[in-house]
Amino acid sequence: MTDGATLASLIRSRAGDEPVRLGLILGSGLGYIAHQVDGTAIPYADLPGFPHVGVSGHNPNLHIGRLEGVRVAVFGAREHYYESGNPRAMLLPLQVLKELGADDLILTNAAGSLRSDIPPGNVMLLSDHINYSGLNPLIGEKTDARFVPMTDAHDPSLRAALRAAAQAQGVDLPEGVYCWYSGPSFETPAEIRMLKLLGGDAVGMSTVPEVILARFLGLKVAAISTITNMAAGMSDEKISHEHTKAMAPLGAAKLERILREFLRNRR
Ligand code: HPA
Repeated sequence: MTDGATLASLIRSRAGDEPVRLGLILGSGLGYIAHQVDGTAIPYADLPGFPHVGVSGHNPNLHIGRLEGVRVAVFGAREHYYESGNPRAMLLPLQVLKELGADDLILTNAAGSLRSDIPPGNVMLLSDHINYSGLNPLIGEKTDARFVPMTDAHDPSLRAALRAAAQAQGVDLPEGVYCWYSGPSFETPAEIRMLKLLGGDAVGMSTVPEVILARFLGLKVAAISTITNMAAGMSDEKISHEHTKAMAPLGAAKLERILREFLRNRR
């Protein structure tokens, strides 16, 4: 098994030695943003141990270079738990990110909304999450480092910077609680009613294991959802992966403006 340090030197040999400042993981329908990075794209297939991503609408390349003048590592795709039943699938990519010098990580995803005031086409900043899957990527870790505190897991300073970036761009960025359901089947209307009672604002099939892994590795992390649909039972629209991919670009344009402004402020 390749370790993060070995992979990081392989990546540096192709993309240059300059340290990376920030990592970005792109969700369903958002992978195109990676192509805007001015630098080097490395297929995951060239990076031993990297996930085999089989979800359509994802871009399985690691893009290292500059976005708005900031040296970034953009992961064009993630492996979801539902692909192989491995909640640790993104551990190695995040170890590599850390080895490349990053302190901060921004996660993005496509999600269903539980809030009628946050309809499709909007973006939502995660204030917190509910790990409704009951799974944990740190199960099996052997040291006390596994007891990761999750208070303020969604970093207050990164969130403030993202809120400020959204405001400067005139993009509405409500904050809410994201619930992780394993997928790949979508939720039932009864499950969505339950998640609302539990305090959820959005639901999706990713991100939470990566937040846990990022905190484990000492990366600061924040996450933004693009809302692609109202959750099951909340509207007449039919929920499907095709629909997710078709709707993601609506929120993606807003997401991109927020991210670019956020990066410009970090030059
Ligand atoms: N549920 C779970 N994951 C999702 C949804 C949803 O409604 N929409 C996009 N990803």
